[in-house]
Amino acid sequence: MVSNRKIDLRSDTVTKPTETMRAAMAMAEVDDDVLGNDPIALELEEEMAKIMGKEEGLFVPSGTMGNLISVLVHCEIRGSEVIVGDNSHIHIYENGGIATIGGVHSRTVKNKDDGTMDIDLIEAAIRNPKGQLFFPTTRLICLENTHANSGGRCLCVEYIDKVGELAKKHDLKLHIDGARIFNASVATGVSVDRLVQVADSVSVCLSKGLGAPVGSVIVGSKSFISKARRVRKTLGGGMRQIGILCAAGLVALKENVQKLEADHHKAKQLASGLCQIKGIKVDLKSVETNIIFFEIEEDSQISAKLLCKSMEEHGILLMQESLSRIRIVLHHQISTSDVEYTLKCMKQFLCGVPALQNGN
Ligand SMILES: Cc1ncc(COP(=O)(O)O)c(C=O)c1O
Repeated sequence: MVSNRKIDLRSDTVTKPTETMRAAMAMAEVDDDVLGNDPIALELEEEMAKIMGKEEGLFVPSGTMGNLISVLVHCEIRGSEVIVGDNSHIHIYENGGIATIGGVHSRTVKNKDDGTMDIDLIEAAIRNPKGQLFFPTTRLICLENTHANSGGRCLCVEYIDKVGELAKKHDLKLHIDGARIFNASVATGVSVDRLVQVADSVSVCLSKGLGAPVGSVIVGSKSFISKARRVRKTLGGGMRQIGILCAAGLVALKENVQKLEADHHKAKQLASGLCQIKGIKVDLKSVETNIIFFEIEEDSQISAKLLCKSMEEHGILLMQESLSRIRIVLHHQISTSDVEYTLKCMKQFLCGVPALQNGN
């Protein structure tokens, strides 16, 4: 049976622009942003910089480009090294762009289950420019908040401040991949500007939980943004009448930040429900924001692939991460009734599977 209902839980990137966004996009007054004249782009960049407590902002096409530009600006000298988490988005999912395009060498430090890296290990990984002839020079540390691959865990402000202190002590820059920094702020109750106070740059996605169709904004000092603008053009990310996109971004900031708390609530509700289902393992305390990872128990009679396939037949889309691991991400276009329906379908399937399905 194939359902007409569609509940897309693969990611918070799947949201569709709201009516207000579409109206704002249609009405947007635009000009050429490469020439620096698009009024709504300027308004969005200024607004984001203000919210984040930084001097300036720059609209970029994606979070990946936001991270790449930021790393390239901080590591403009060839042979620079960046310290990144071994489970970070920059290291795993960005095509190694900082190496292939930027000539920047990554030094990974293990991400703990909560998305942090041990501060002592970060310090031990820093290579001193006055050190051995054969070491690259560390110039940057990158953090990710929330940490996606750890299940959307939040880095607390005390931890970020400590990494900031360490960066300062060693004359390094600190970049935060803040694709979901607003989720972190809502979940921890700490304002975004405070969370990123010690960072030299932050990349913030508009097209994750905030629900805009396209774009990210990077923020930092005037001199950082002026270099970033040049790198963005080099990468082909300078676009013309982007006010159409930025108009949706402004609506996202105005209307959708306040929806994140409900997303976190729905994630907890769904995760608690999953806990009750035999054959599924969820670490409830790891569900701090809008992402849930769960495991199919080893002795279960089904596989992650089979569960995803069956849910798809009920109109529910999940993201299979491995043979036994599945990801679910909540967003503002998922209702409480969608959560209840999802739990009902899962229960029905997992509690009523007759026999081992080989090869699935
Ligand atoms: C933590 C994190 N950083 C960066 C990105 C990249 O964003 P984009 O897909 O806009 O390139 C993502 C995308 O999912 C992400 O989860």
